Amino acid sequence: MSQTLTLIAEEVRSCTKCRLHEGTRNGVPGEGNPQAEVMLVGEGPGFHEDAQGRPFVGAAGNLLNEMLGKAGLKREDVFITNIVKHRPPGNRDPMPDEIAACSEYLERQIAEIKPTLIVTLGRHSMGYFIGPSARITQVHGTLKAWRDIAVYACFHPAAALHQPKYREMLEQDFEGLPRALAAARKRAESQANATQEAGSADAVSTDDRGGAAPSQMTLL
Ligand code: URA
Repeated sequence: MSQTLTLIAEEVRSCTKCRLHEGTRNGVPGEGNPQAEVMLVGEGPGFHEDAQGRPFVGAAGNLLNEMLGKAGLKREDVFITNIVKHRPPGNRDPMPDEIAACSEYLERQIAEIKPTLIVTLGRHSMGYFIGPSARITQVHGTLKAWRDIAVYACFHPAAALHQPKYREMLEQDFEGLPRALAAARKRAESQANATQEAGSADAVSTDDRGGAAPSQMTLL
């Protein structure tokens, strides 16, 4: 963990910014490679995550590990976190004010890790990055842009555990992840080139060349 991520983790563990910390055992800041190219963002800790203070360690976590394997990734390669860092009581959906209160931590984690690709797991994470009116059944398996970062929406592993019809879609989402990552890398590279070109152009003129603005992409 970098110093910044360690500091964020400490702040999360003692956070009282919203009601969610009440009655929980542990805050769950997230874990993984501080230089991860891929950052996975779930919804919020469940029972086992609250008990251990680590993300995705229960049944959904086991399925997530299996899905990462399908994409040729290991947990150590990626950074895994959630939209809210304390367990919502009874695993209810996080409320908008709780998501807003917790977003500071997520934003700081993203700023520190600078992932090439954010993978959203489930509706709430998708809503944060792609917009609340997006439908997961329509956008899963597609690549979008959030600010200057590519975002790939996937079903939530827990949905696949509860409803077998989602299992196949979850598998397809993760099978498509290497292709999404390749596209995200390409996009990041051309953004970096455009920024560099704009920088050298700025040295001789104030011409606005654009080219680095986030755009909506669809893969698959
Ligand atoms: N579900 C989530 O969204 N996050 C976890 O950490 C565990 C289960």
